Amino acid sequence: MKGKGVFICVEGLDGCGKTTQTKLLVRRLREKGYDAVYTAEPSRGKIGKFIKKYCLHGKKRVSSVVEALLFAADRYEHVENEIIPALNEEKLVVSDRYVYSSLAYQGAAGLDLKWIEKINEHAIRPDLAIFVDVEPEIVIHRLKPNKSVMENLETQRKVREVYMKFVEKGELVKIDGNKSKKEVADGILKVVLRFLEKRVKKP
Ligand SMILES: Nc1ncnc2c1ncn2[C@@H]1O[C@H](COP(=O)(O)OP(=O)(O)OP(=O)(O)O)[C@@H](O)[C@H]1O
Ligand SMILES: [Mg+2]
Repeated sequence: MKGKGVFICVEGLDGCGKTTQTKLLVRRLREKGYDAVYTAEPSRGKIGKFIKKYCLHGKKRVSSVVEALLFAADRYEHVENEIIPALNEEKLVVSDRYVYSSLAYQGAAGLDLKWIEKINEHAIRPDLAIFVDVEPEIVIHRLKPNKSVMENLETQRKVREVYMKFVEKGELVKIDGNKSKKEVADGILKVVLRFLEKRVKKP
C-alpha cells in the first residue's frame, strides 16, 4: 500500500542531468518547506550494487532479459525498503530513475514492453514522472571516464524513442534539458509545484 506521501521520478538518457536535477529539486523543495528526500536506481541495496558491477560496468552488455529481471528485483526491494516507508512518513520522495528506465533501456534492446510492465507490476505508480530531454548527440559528449555499457549513440537514440512513446501517452512530462542547469531546474520546479498545488486542491 502506498502511503500518504508524494512520489516523483526523474528519467532521461545517461548524462542528461538526472542526478544534478533530482538533487537540486530535493534541495529547492526542502527550502520551500517540503519534507523531500532523494533516492536513486539502481538502489543502494545488494542487488543495486550487483547491477552496477555486473550489468553497467562489465566488459560487455549482459542479456537484456537478465538486465530486466535484475532491475525489477532491485526495484522491488527499493519500493519495499525505501520508497514505501518514506511515503508512509508522508515524505515527498524523488527518485533518480525508476520503472521507465527499464521500459526505455530494455525496451530499446528489443524486449516486449508488456513483459517489462508485467515483471514490474509490484512497482507502485509514481504520482508524477518527469523526462529530462537532451539530444543523444549532446549527452554522448558528456562522457565520463567510468561510462557504462549503455553509453553509445545508437543505444541512446533508441532509448530516447521509447521514452518519447511514454511522453506521447501522457505518462511522462517532458522538460527541455538542453538549457543551463539553472534553467532546467526552474522548469522542473515549476511543473512539480503546479502538480503539488493541484493535488492539495483535490477534494
Ligand atoms: N543543463 C546542463 N548543461 C550542461 N551540462 C550539464 C547540465 N546538466 C548536467 N550537466 C553535466 O552533465 C554531466 C552529467 O550530469 P548528471 O550526472 O547529472 O547526469 P545523469 O543523467 O545523472 O547521468 P547518469 O545517467 O550517467 O547518472 C555532469 O558533468 C553535469 O555537470
Ligand atoms: Mg546520475
